[in-house]
Amino acid sequence: MKILVTGGLGFIGSHTVVELQSKGFEVVIIDDLSNSSEKVIDGIVAITGIKPTFEKFDLKEKTKVQDFFKRHSNISGVIHFAASKAVGESVEKPLLYYENNIGTLVYMLQELSAMQSANFIFSSSCTVYGQADKMPITESAPVKEAESPYGNTKQMGEEIIRDTCKVVPALNAIALRYFNPMGAHPSTEIGELPIGVPQNLVPFITQTGAGIREQLSVFGGDYPTQDGTCIRDYIHVVDLAKAHVVALERLISGKNTENYEVFNVGTGTGSSVLEAIQSFERVSGKKLNYKIVDRRAGDITAAYADTTKANTVLGWKAESTLDEAMKSAWDWEQKIRK
Ligand code: UD1
Repeated sequence: MKILVTGGLGFIGSHTVVELQSKGFEVVIIDDLSNSSEKVIDGIVAITGIKPTFEKFDLKEKTKVQDFFKRHSNISGVIHFAASKAVGESVEKPLLYYENNIGTLVYMLQELSAMQSANFIFSSSCTVYGQADKMPITESAPVKEAESPYGNTKQMGEEIIRDTCKVVPALNAIALRYFNPMGAHPSTEIGELPIGVPQNLVPFITQTGAGIREQLSVFGGDYPTQDGTCIRDYIHVVDLAKAHVVALERLISGKNTENYEVFNVGTGTGSSVLEAIQSFERVSGKKLNYKIVDRRAGDITAAYADTTKANTVLGWKAESTLDEAMKSAWDWEQKIRK
């Protein structure tokens, strides 16, 4: 079965390509390389021994999207990762984010709506919950007003898919609400490649450990949590990648009960920033230079998933511990600095 993975050379996309190939799926990647590199294909080949088909183009080029589906009429499913994801940049350039994330989603859904049947997996985010009132967060928690244009594109993306599924019964879709992805493939052939100064915690930790950054700023030590730092649900990217394959198989085998479904994808365990630092120190044997500074604007106190729905309905569960995920992130950091 042939699966289209948009953004398939990115962080989560590349790990998902590996998991798809190891399950026997044939993968076609579309990626514009705006935040990734063609070298990622070599990493995928080193792990699976299979070279995915790769087409380089920007999904904003609608005629190219149309042409792609004419040439690949036998696509069994689409996993749509391609999107811009920097929260701060989205505040500066909202229209870029609406065009990149919403415009391309609409083009994709237009093509899929014209097919006899189509299966679609969408990258959503726990950001849609904002600061939820209750922990752990279930899928029925209310969607809060978005903090950023990036977050808004995830909320709007879900709504666009839901509205389309209502009128296109042959379209089956699942939105996966990711918590905080981290880590790298245990082979260290693929991993996260942040451009410039990392905005996310784990690459900042590993770069500090590697001496590329002098000090990690811990944003806020006065939150109402056990140690005063924010709590997140850090999930190993390989576990997250596997959730995509399981979700896709659910659609392909027609096991979905509605044609639009939503699942949280997290571990169910919340870890504080200080716990993440301690995990790094355990797995690396290094002391991390960090300092508690002011809160970062827009951060929420805590977010971790209730994963009951994914566990029972998808039959998927995150397997890796925080230490295992952190070790893979550290192994990867050391490998790319060699
Ligand atoms: C961020 C985005 C979120 C997006 C997700 C994708 C914001 C406000 N939210 O989530 O919308 O879906 O990335 O991965 O940007 N921290 C530090 N020092 C650092 C970096 C982070 O203390 O240098 C802390 C943060 O305050 C937070 C935690 O680490 O408590 C995780 O931060 P981060 O990795 O940026 O993820 P989120 O903010 O949860």
